[in-house]
Amino acid sequence: MWISVATVNEIAPGKCKVVTRRNLEYAVVNVAGEYYCIDNICPHAGGSLGDGIIEDDCITCTWHYWQFDIKSGEMCGNQHVKVASYPVRLQGEEVQIEVPT
Ligand code: FES
Repeated sequence: MWISVATVNEIAPGKCKVVTRRNLEYAVVNVAGEYYCIDNICPHAGGSLGDGIIEDDCITCTWHYWQFDIKSGEMCGNQHVKVASYPVRLQGEEVQIEVPT
């Protein structure tokens, strides 16, 4: 199901908003005007990816510096490690993500 998580002006390019729904955390990121959504919890040891360092389409967890491709969720340099990514759409001024029901 689609849920609204922000307005377009709320997440500037290079920034992220963390959204919690039903005990799951999502990191919604603006990469050069396009919005993407990945799981917020780092699979290494549970750091918040949404609090990470965003450079272009890469987000770096600040706990131990694992890096993930924001567009795919894949760990940079290790495609066997991945965080889930979720579809994002714009409905007018609303940023919506598609999450499990
Ligand atoms: S918890 Fe993210 S790199 Fe260790």
